[in-house]
Amino acid sequence: MRRPSVKFFNLLELEGLAAGLIPRPALDYIARGAGDEQTLRENRLAFSRVLVDQRVLSGSTGQTLHTQIFGSQLRAPIMVGAMAHHGLVHPSAESETARAAAAYGTLLGVSTVAMQNLEQIAAASKGDKWFQCYLTRDSGFNRELLQRAHAAGYKAIVLTADVTVGGNREHDRRNALHLPTPGNFLDSEGRRRLLDLSFDSGLGLDSLDFVRSHSAGLPLIVKGVTTPVDARAALQHGVDAIQVSNHGGRQLDGSPAAFESLQRVANEVRGRVPLIFDSGIRRGLDVFKAIAAGADLVAIGRPVLYGLALDGRHGVQAVLEQLEQELRIVMQLSGAGTLADVRDTPLLRIGSGSEPAG
Ligand SMILES: Cc1cc2nc3c(=O)[nH]c(=O)nc-3n(C[C@H](O)[C@H](O)[C@H](O)COP(=O)(O)O)c2cc1C
Repeated sequence: MRRPSVKFFNLLELEGLAAGLIPRPALDYIARGAGDEQTLRENRLAFSRVLVDQRVLSGSTGQTLHTQIFGSQLRAPIMVGAMAHHGLVHPSAESETARAAAAYGTLLGVSTVAMQNLEQIAAASKGDKWFQCYLTRDSGFNRELLQRAHAAGYKAIVLTADVTVGGNREHDRRNALHLPTPGNFLDSEGRRRLLDLSFDSGLGLDSLDFVRSHSAGLPLIVKGVTTPVDARAALQHGVDAIQVSNHGGRQLDGSPAAFESLQRVANEVRGRVPLIFDSGIRRGLDVFKAIAAGADLVAIGRPVLYGLALDGRHGVQAVLEQLEQELRIVMQLSGAGTLADVRDTPLLRIGSGSEPAG
């Protein structure tokens, strides 16, 4: 693989590097969070509140990262999370990201409000993809989208549950941000379709049944769960996986760090269904901690868009590879050769001696 034209050494510095390329309103839309951004900050801080119980003398050499989920083979437990409007940072939009995810060897989440329509993105690469579903107030259109996702070969449906209304994103209002009409909301001539684009504010447990009944047997993942009580309800409604996420701090400001939520939800789920985790991952060490806390797979958000802005598919691949390399180092140094070893590694809560984190 060719090296990206912009050099970077970790994912944290990507925002600064990409800032010169992305117009301010779009950068704010991507980078910033809701309200006072307490949750956005907490998403990072929470990782630093636990440490890894390092084993030496394990004799382990080399790491096995290969992961499977719902029949898809992943090179590492790292996927690209669903995000709207990749076209804000690259002319080939989601298609370019799709090519990167496939070249790297992982899953791509494709948003309902992607810049391109779901068929275009599906056709852009051979890699497996999940369709992230937002329910609008138009149930006929919701049904149509789910059927189209199945027909286009998507491997699972991710129902995002934490967007019953847009979060309080002050920066977007201040910038009078105007986002282009998403591809799925245009007709075949590229004209905006006359339908109600608003989110369904009444999204509830029956929405899970609705999605399941129109997605032709595809696995159903509910995204945006942060509490054990919601995890329990979702399990009772037969979801196939749970994605613990607070939308990268873009929705409810004041909700706990996603990593804290992961630890609570994992205690409730106890391995009955796969757990996907996102919000705040910037280091291979974060991936390690997420898996040790019970995640099976993590999803990456903003850094992917920065990589896309900096160098298209090569930039996105470099982002994923950087995380993987860091994860490999942490695994080697903590004596974990496999993901099962990572899962068995205790996390120590800072300030509580050697007490394992709950
Ligand atoms: C610009 C942007 C657009 C997003 N659009 C969506 C979306 O359409 N659907 C969705 O479920 N999540 C969306 N998300 C949330 C991501 O899937 C994910 O939860 C979040 O970005 C993870 O946090 P991170 O950016 O700190 O890695 C979006 C995030 C960003 C940054």
